Amino acid sequence: MILVTTPTGQIGSQVLDNLLDAGDAAGEVRVIVRDPARLSPRVRARVETVTGSHADPDVTAKACAGVDRVFWLAPPVPTADSVEGHFRAFTRPLVDAVRTEGVERVVGVSTLGRGVARNAGQISASLAMDDEIRATGVHHRALCPPYLMENLLHQASAIRDSGVIAMATYGDRVLRTCTTRDIGAVAARLLLDGSWTGQEDVPTVGPDALTPEDMARVVSEVLDRPVRFRRLGEAEYKATLLRHGASEDWARGVTDLASASAEQGFYGSAAPTTPETAPTSFRRWCEEVLKPAVAG
Ligand SMILES: NC(=O)c1ccc[n+]([C@@H]2O[C@H](COP(=O)([O-])OP(=O)(O)OC[C@H]3O[C@@H](n4cnc5c(N)ncnc54)[C@H](OP(=O)(O)O)[C@@H]3O)[C@@H](O)[C@H]2O)c1
Repeated sequence: MILVTTPTGQIGSQVLDNLLDAGDAAGEVRVIVRDPARLSPRVRARVETVTGSHADPDVTAKACAGVDRVFWLAPPVPTADSVEGHFRAFTRPLVDAVRTEGVERVVGVSTLGRGVARNAGQISASLAMDDEIRATGVHHRALCPPYLMENLLHQASAIRDSGVIAMATYGDRVLRTCTTRDIGAVAARLLLDGSWTGQEDVPTVGPDALTPEDMARVVSEVLDRPVRFRRLGEAEYKATLLRHGASEDWARGVTDLASASAEQGFYGSAAPTTPETAPTSFRRWCEEVLKPAVAG
């Protein structure tokens, strides 16, 4: 049986869609969900649900009973008091369940930056989560994306109203990207394949070598309106996060993450593209996802 966490999230919902598209090959599928009403009728008709949060050890233990493969994602929760505490809370229940419930394979969402990122907020915490999971000896694949294209969806109204994309990074350095659609597809492929063993990273790096200024140009061409890049300073970025309800430590983590990725370059041109796991170009994503969101 396959267990999917975050079935209502951007990545988890696409993992689930791919599994359900595979029909009988997926076998039995179970999800952990806080509010089952948020699942689509197609999903509700096909999967078993365990209600609760996967940060709750009792919920995760119950959900892992009889499960051999798990899709695991620690959700972004900007109101969390502590970044490290948050990732620990979303790691311990899985570690316990691997030890007690006999889970054999875990496919998790991680990030590029292993062995390179230092003082990188949520990125460091996410990589530490993988280490804890791997210490159990479970077969593990860490899906490692760079900057998610979907981050720009938060700026849909600013793009529409002001023609600006703002990021806390250099405008003239390559920023690798990936779409959640490709991560969902790779995760499902791994979950459907019961033959892999060991512990490895699976980079998911889209085919482009665009700088944020290039990205603004692509957005401008796709939307057929002027769009420019604006670099956010660290203090301005942190203030924006706090204004949108992030806790002090979450905002600190995200600003550390942004400076680490800008200065240490692990989301930059040194990361090779991986077209087999991340085929979708930024332009195609803009046409298919960003354009309707900005229009909408
Ligand atoms: N942003 C980037 O550039 C970037 C780069 C590299 C890696 N990543 C990683 O990519 C992932 C992003 O995932 P995503 O885009 O799929 O996230 P998302 O769309 O925000 O989905 C979050 C999911 O988590 C659930 N959730 C939220 N709070 C929860 C809680 N307290 N307990 C249980 N479930 C909870 C939500 O369920 P409800 O329906 O119950 O709210 C939803 O299913 C993260 O793991 C992040 O670390 C991001």
